[in-house]
Amino acid sequence: METNIKNNLVKEIMSQTIPVVPAIDVIVFPHMIVPLLVVDERIIQGINQALSGQKLVLLLSAKNYDDENSQEVETENLYKVGTVASIMRVINVPEGGIKILIQGMCRAAVENIQTIDNILTAQIKPVDFSNEENEETIALVKNIKEISSQLSMTSQSFSPDFHTILTKMQNPEKIAEFILSHLDLETNKAQELLEQKDLNNLLEGIYQELEKEISVAQVQERIRNHTRDAINKSQNEFYLREQLKSIKKELGENDEDIDVLRDELEAKQLPEKIRAEMNKQLNKLERISPDSMEATVTRNHIEWVLSLPWGSYTQDNLDIVHAKKVLDEDHYGLAEIKERILDFISVKNLKKDSPSPILCFTGAPGVGKTSLGKSIARALGRNFYRISLGGVKDESEIRGHRRTYVGAMPGRFIQGIKKANSMNPVILIDELDKIGSDFRGDPSAAMLEVLDPQQNQEFYDNYLGIPFDLSNILFIATSNDISTISAPLRDRMEIIELSGYTTEEKIAIAKTHLIQEALADSGLSETEFTLNEAVLEDIITCYTRESGVRNLSQQIKKICSKAARHFVEKKEIIHITQENLENYLGPKRFVDELTHIKNMVGITNGLAWTSFGGEVLKIEALMMPGTGKLILTGQLGDVMKESAQAAMSYARSHAEEFLIGEERFTKFDLHIHVPAGATPKDGPSAGITMLTSILSALTNRPIDASCAMTGELNLRGEVMPIGGVKEKLLAAKRNHMSSIILPEQNKNDYLTIKDLTDGINVIWVSHANEVLDKVLLPQSA
Ligand SMILES: Nc1ncnc2c1ncn2[C@@H]1O[C@H](COP(=O)(O)OP(=O)(O)OP(=O)(O)O)[C@@H](O)[C@H]1O
Ligand SMILES: [Mg+2]
Repeated sequence: METNIKNNLVKEIMSQTIPVVPAIDVIVFPHMIVPLLVVDERIIQGINQALSGQKLVLLLSAKNYDDENSQEVETENLYKVGTVASIMRVINVPEGGIKILIQGMCRAAVENIQTIDNILTAQIKPVDFSNEENEETIALVKNIKEISSQLSMTSQSFSPDFHTILTKMQNPEKIAEFILSHLDLETNKAQELLEQKDLNNLLEGIYQELEKEISVAQVQERIRNHTRDAINKSQNEFYLREQLKSIKKELGENDEDIDVLRDELEAKQLPEKIRAEMNKQLNKLERISPDSMEATVTRNHIEWVLSLPWGSYTQDNLDIVHAKKVLDEDHYGLAEIKERILDFISVKNLKKDSPSPILCFTGAPGVGKTSLGKSIARALGRNFYRISLGGVKDESEIRGHRRTYVGAMPGRFIQGIKKANSMNPVILIDELDKIGSDFRGDPSAAMLEVLDPQQNQEFYDNYLGIPFDLSNILFIATSNDISTISAPLRDRMEIIELSGYTTEEKIAIAKTHLIQEALADSGLSETEFTLNEAVLEDIITCYTRESGVRNLSQQIKKICSKAARHFVEKKEIIHITQENLENYLGPKRFVDELTHIKNMVGITNGLAWTSFGGEVLKIEALMMPGTGKLILTGQLGDVMKESAQAAMSYARSHAEEFLIGEERFTKFDLHIHVPAGATPKDGPSAGITMLTSILSALTNRPIDASCAMTGELNLRGEVMPIGGVKEKLLAAKRNHMSSIILPEQNKNDYLTIKDLTDGINVIWVSHANEVLDKVLLPQSA
């Protein structure tokens, strides 16, 4: 209805004059609603005139309008085709001029333009299409509708309504006007379309413009996607992580453990420097992705540091009476060592921060080194941890791996401290002599740092990466053979020798400790089982050959478990006697060798001292036709070979004294063998033993087999001192020797063996002749 009124209005004004409003940079198509700012007084007057009448004006665009500052437009610069528009609203602008809202009505061409009463007016005529609708028009309309549907899907400047409205429209002219009012065209192009008189050309022009819009929309879309991708990539991880966090939250696996670690850190008594370092690490952990390798490494490290007993000390029990009681309870004998421990406790009583000594117990297996360490911890009331270094070859076992290694761990001492759970435990370094070394470094060198009171206050473990104080630990090392420990390491320790036990001592240990232990293990009570001293002696002499008591303990345990079975079966008290012992332990393993002691030519009882304690070692010499060669077998070390040669030279130079003919040296070979050929042997202490065997073989005189000997020999025939006197004496006694020959110069050791000489004759010698006089028997007939 309204359009009709307007149409009529428009028809009315055609060929009339109406005020002209120049439009700059904008072409207003019919149906478009556009606001315009007008400042030119002539134009404002024209508008006012229109407002008083039909409210219609002619909008004309300016050609090549490029002077932005000029407010006036020259008449000749205006296009000759424009749009009749109706003024919808007028607003006065405070800064001057007016703002009008106008709506395009129809196209019109200027017939005549002039200024009347200072108002720019134009006489107009309608612009009609020259041609009628034809098939091409229909096709074009169809195309336009299609493309507009695409456009409303892709381009954001065209709403979906745009297409919906368009589909309902039939009139090509209306369609053209409708689309033109939506397109944002360049002024020139818009003017061209406004002036177009051929409907098909107009539609085609519109179609082209729509195509342009489509391609612009596509490019826009591409740019949008591209930027979205770029943004996605960088933010993807963030979003995923956020998602993971919320998933974890849902699952109850909240990342609260960092807070837990923080609380733990607060609670620990860490040195300030280390606390700061740990806080740094925790901050780092919070920043990095919780599933990254680095997070695992960092978290493990923090957990390790927090698991250490920073600042936690156990209270030492410094009561001497108590300590003595504990030590005596756990071990029989060992008086010297117990004294040493009590000394240490006394010093602690007087000076709490006195440095702890580093003790090293050395001795044969089973003499109680390890168990003594435990007992000391019990006496002092300290925590105890045992580190076994047997077979450790890798330096990082001591000092830890660097954190960058997969599966890196702190070294054994830091691990030990964690297990011991106090800053001042007793740490037993077991088997210190079995520490190895290879391409992975020298662990004993790393041990130097651990055991050096000057350095171990700030022990640096590669894994922890922060210093740790080991100086409050009481270190006790054990070893079987002190000679294999490197000199600098030995130097840092206070070496305490535990010698082997005599049979009497072993009996006492068995009575006071081993039997109770074995009974406790087997579940028998003391009233259900008897085992007297004579039986114990039999077990010691016939079933064991050792310096310590480990085998003895095993044999007693064996008896107890067998006895337990009998008790269960027969329900009667078990008496172990010398007669029924074999029922429990089987046939005797070491038969009384007295019957085997036979004086023979060329066979001498030597005494050796190994990490297993003392041993009787027979040295055999044999003459055979030959050219005067000396053959040595039995895995002898260089020192031992040389002492054989020295003995041989001594024998040869004293041949006359012993009535040995020269041909014994030139027409015969001499073979010296030391049985148990598989075990390597070395050392100079078999000097006099070799000489005895050699001279026996050369002279054919037998040797007193009830005598064992040890002593180094020099070329002048002097007997020099040796080590391990006590062990050797015990070995001789174990082997039922009736006398033992020892170097005179070892008499200092007599004090330590004084109590052991019951039942054995000790002969002190200073020269080889004294030995030979004693053991070389006259030639048998
Ligand atoms: N004097 C003793 N009193 C009581 N029991 C002892 C004594 N000596 C050793 N034992 C016992 O003997 C057993 C073996 O001792 P331990 O394991 O300490 O030997 P070790 O010297 O460490 O030997 P290895 O060198 O083989 O390690 C332990 O059960 C220990 O209690
Ligand atoms: Mg041990």
